[in-house]
Amino acid sequence: MPESVFLLMDRAKSAARAQGKRVIDLSIGASDLPVPGELIAELESAARDPATWGYCLKSCTMRFLEEATRWYAGRFGLELDPSTQALSLIGSQEGLAHLLLAVADPGDAVLIPEVAYPSYWGAAALAGLEAVPLKLGEDLLPVFEELDPGVLERARVIVLNYPNNPTAALADRAFWARALAFAEAHDLLIVHDNPYIDMVYEGEAVSPLVLEGALERTVELFSFSKSFHMGGFRLGFALGNAEAIAALEAAKAPVDFNQYLGIQRMGIAALRLPPDRVLRDVQVFRSRRDALVEAMQGCGVPVSRPKASMYLWLKLPEGMDDVRFALRAVEHAGVALAPGRGFGPGGHGYVRFALVQPPEVLAEAGRRIAALLD
Ligand SMILES: Cc1ncc(COP(=O)(O)O)c(C=O)c1O
Repeated sequence: MPESVFLLMDRAKSAARAQGKRVIDLSIGASDLPVPGELIAELESAARDPATWGYCLKSCTMRFLEEATRWYAGRFGLELDPSTQALSLIGSQEGLAHLLLAVADPGDAVLIPEVAYPSYWGAAALAGLEAVPLKLGEDLLPVFEELDPGVLERARVIVLNYPNNPTAALADRAFWARALAFAEAHDLLIVHDNPYIDMVYEGEAVSPLVLEGALERTVELFSFSKSFHMGGFRLGFALGNAEAIAALEAAKAPVDFNQYLGIQRMGIAALRLPPDRVLRDVQVFRSRRDALVEAMQGCGVPVSRPKASMYLWLKLPEGMDDVRFALRAVEHAGVALAPGRGFGPGGHGYVRFALVQPPEVLAEAGRRIAALLD
């Protein structure tokens, strides 16, 4: 499983640190900005409220789901029913893994872009599904045309994610219209994993649920980990097709009793924050992106500015091995990156930088990597 290259990196970082070396760690995509103080206050008061201490069944998630659907309608103009078209999640990663278990049978195929968030491959394996990589085009978006008819026959689900981790690709409405037409032609459920919805620097993040006919076959997963830096709190929600949501709810029932109510209250407060609070943090990531890109360009590395997400996806010179390069980067440049192959078969020969350090540190890392490439 792709996880092993991350373990390898972890060992390389520990070994470098054990030798007293300082490592600039850009290998993990966890937001390092603080959780807004209002949300922490909400959790503190919830922890003192005995009404939050017990198991939390569906009815106890309804205020959260009402807020999630209100937020979605305010942002995208589509009203959804919180009791049938929404479900609370313990993070979007948990939701996606259970959704694949819920909507496909062992032996079915799931279509995953050849470079994708590593958890998709593991979730497919857990559900006994055949994970079929979709080729990416020049624009880093999947090409739907080149698929084997036998695979299409077995395929039940397509998993997409824009703004993307790790490629930073952003999909426009025209792409989503193509994806929906493809899903309709082959009777697929679209699962859109959308944790980077706010992390857009140029253009806009599209929610495919609003496309005509999309509610028939789409589930979107939203997260509090990136927009509100709540990764450790584990909170998200699913919106979309009622039948798929009901299947997900049924699959989760034997596993969990939803996230702690106090954390759901944090989520409600987060969705009510004025939008400029989120935008302010997005500006922080934009300035980090600019610092890294400008430092590398200044050293003659031809990188372009990612339009979205919190990553830079770098193609290494032809024939260079991504794992070996990432290990050398730790040892000789003191910079930890994620080797591309950890994201799937299309990631060989790439590395991913996560923008999780201040601009001057990223610029230093960029210069050191440029020197190593040289
Ligand atoms: C594409 C993608 N999906 C899901 C997650 C995890 O989200 P959550 O913390 O809501 O489970 C991440 C985290 O990096 C991600 O990059």
